[in-house]
Amino acid sequence: QRPILRLLSCPGTVAEDLRRDEQPSGSVETGFEDKIPRKRFSEMQNERREQAQRTVLIRCPEKISENKFLKYLSQHGPINNHFFYESFGLYAVVEFCRKESVGSLQNGTRTPSMAMETAIPFRSRFLSLKLKNQTSEQSCIQLSDQLPPSNRKLCELLCYAESMDDQLNTLLKEFQLTEENTKLRYLTCSLIEDIAAAYFPDCVVRPFGSSVNTFGKLGCDLDMFLDLDETRNLSTHKTSGNFLTEFQVKNVPSERIATQKILSVIGECLDHFGPGCVGVQKILNARCPLVRFSHQASGFQCDLTTNNRIALTSSELLYIYGTLDSRVRALVFGIRCWARAHSLTSSIPGAWITNFSLTMMVIFFLQRRSPPILPTLDSLKTLADAEDKCTIEGNNCTFVRDLSRIKPSGNTETLELLLKEFFEYFGNFAFNKNSINIRQGREQNKPDSSPLYIQNPFETSLNISKNVSQSQLQKFVDLAQESAWVLQQKDTDRLSVSNNQPWGLAAILLPTVPNRRSFTKKKRKRSANESVRNLLESLKSNRTANFTETNEK
Ligand code: GTP
Ligand code: MG
Repeated sequence: QRPILRLLSCPGTVAEDLRRDEQPSGSVETGFEDKIPRKRFSEMQNERREQAQRTVLIRCPEKISENKFLKYLSQHGPINNHFFYESFGLYAVVEFCRKESVGSLQNGTRTPSMAMETAIPFRSRFLSLKLKNQTSEQSCIQLSDQLPPSNRKLCELLCYAESMDDQLNTLLKEFQLTEENTKLRYLTCSLIEDIAAAYFPDCVVRPFGSSVNTFGKLGCDLDMFLDLDETRNLSTHKTSGNFLTEFQVKNVPSERIATQKILSVIGECLDHFGPGCVGVQKILNARCPLVRFSHQASGFQCDLTTNNRIALTSSELLYIYGTLDSRVRALVFGIRCWARAHSLTSSIPGAWITNFSLTMMVIFFLQRRSPPILPTLDSLKTLADAEDKCTIEGNNCTFVRDLSRIKPSGNTETLELLLKEFFEYFGNFAFNKNSINIRQGREQNKPDSSPLYIQNPFETSLNISKNVSQSQLQKFVDLAQESAWVLQQKDTDRLSVSNNQPWGLAAILLPTVPNRRSFTKKKRKRSANESVRNLLESLKSNRTANFTETNEK
């Protein structure tokens, strides 16, 4: 069972200052959606990684005085920011201004001696703080609950929203990763990197997937990638003379076997020596071999892979799409929550659609709008400069990294319209003959008979939704049609529903959407109803037009 993560943040921390700084210059404050960082992905990753290296994770006693705690730690150097959270106990994340402070703190830290058990002496940045005198401390930590809202609270928030756009933005605001949660994700990777460094001193453990691609929901897993490129490429040191030195290494028959061997030892290492790493499973025969484990203190379910640079590049591409237009994330969050509410997605792997595939579908849909809201991957490639050129395992992964070089869309459609049109579009999509392709931004003939074909943007001969069965696809189509229909009904009912009745987004997130039979029955009646409604609407608009005309005369 996953521990509940409750973040307790400190008011006026550097985190808040950072958030303020992330406001793009010259933009008008219209809401949180403008606060998306507009840095290059690599810049953002490097900055966060460097911050994480100056950070420690401390298990604290239940009752602690924040001031005394900070004073005690400040002996090792100034603290840049900190926050507390609960996850089966109280923890603090403390970021020092200087990296040396971490070493100083570690030098003053001892390995515990236990009566019944033996401690494996591993010096990490995950520490425990003990009180010498148990009685004197009082808890005076400010609590700020960072959990996503309960279903009930969410329903309330959505029902009281003023418009569907407001509903989708509320959903995004409530579910998106907080600054503190993001810091904790980078810190966890950095702690794992320290363990992996026992074997590969120059390795880097980088987060990827939804933790960094702007589409992460509070509670999502932490995908991490063990990057050994530095270890491989350290031979840049030029020596004079006619000699060249190479390391003596073990050779294995394939890249896949090398990956399996590396992950196998890292898995063992995490299991035996990794503080807080539990439930380590080595899943080495998967298409993409991985080590899965729980990081107890942070509460994250972690998937560690290596030799997976394309996935990191996909995260970078999604980061660009998520940052280009504030409607993208709101719509993706809405669709992801909708899919989860109807069990179209699951945390267990299987024949269902993944969040990654759903995100691709939203991106594709936004490329198909007129004018397009998002550019195609091919057009991002044409904007690339020499620095952006990138080939991974023979696949062209070139696209522009500098966000300021991409022209904003002139499309002004509302989120309400986009959500409805998304369901209409995919409720009627010719999945039997067409594939989805964000590289070209248009449907293409399916190259094989997979029920759902979404072309992998970089390994273009692969289908990212190969796992999806015909029945799961049918379920998606039925629910999309049903939701389009519900939103249409609610459209007319909206003004008549009282404030605490689910409407708009709330109505389609509820499992009480009319069941398929009644929907199908209603669907049959739909064309008749539609004609009546169209007639009424045309009468209404004629009346409005006449009214305007008379007024203007
Ligand atoms: P959630 O974890 O569900 O929030 O979303 P996620 O985007 O992190 O998905 P997931 O953890 O399943 O996968 C992590 C990353 O691996 C994704 O963001 C993709 O970059 C990549 N990935 C996942 N599935 C596929 C796939 O089928 N094909 C390819 N090429 N990449 C994938
Ligand atoms: Mg993930």
